[in-house]
Amino acid sequence: MNRAIQKLKNEHEIILSAVSHLNRLLSLIKERALQKEIADLLELFKEYIDLCHNRKEEAVLFSELANSGVSKDDSPIGVLTEEHQREKKLLIQMTESFVNQNDYASFTANAKEYMELIKIHILRENNILFPIAENILSNEKQDDVCKQFEKYEENAVGIGRYQALNEILAALANKHTD
Ligand SMILES: [Fe+2]
Repeated sequence: MNRAIQKLKNEHEIILSAVSHLNRLLSLIKERALQKEIADLLELFKEYIDLCHNRKEEAVLFSELANSGVSKDDSPIGVLTEEHQREKKLLIQMTESFVNQNDYASFTANAKEYMELIKIHILRENNILFPIAENILSNEKQDDVCKQFEKYEENAVGIGRYQALNEILAALANKHTD
């Protein structure tokens, strides 16, 4: 089994459940009691989705694939990198409209676009890029990619914080099991 790719797939599951949590909160954004929860969720997205996950894919996986001869033009890497940038921009706009301007209409529009983009983006990575990566990277290289992931997490937020983020975001799914 490709541990490196499986790790990213596990993170995708956590991201999708965190995004559905945001979707459930959207209809309640005007409730004061939930406003801190939404603002905190946006910070968690920045830390986990942007800083840990997306940038790790770019810095480690995409660059390993490029080193193995997978060009941006012949693979989805170029599109996926642009989508990461779009996600980041939308997250900044969401924070700006929700936290700084209390502009709920603009926040909701951006949040819907963000959630749609994440879903399409994850499908593209899981179904197109990851099979390419699994074909190209040897078992040895995959182990090396895993080690690079851990090094990246340590430098980005620290291993303890990375593990805590996984647990905090995964727990959001359990809030709505009823
Ligand atoms: Fe991803």
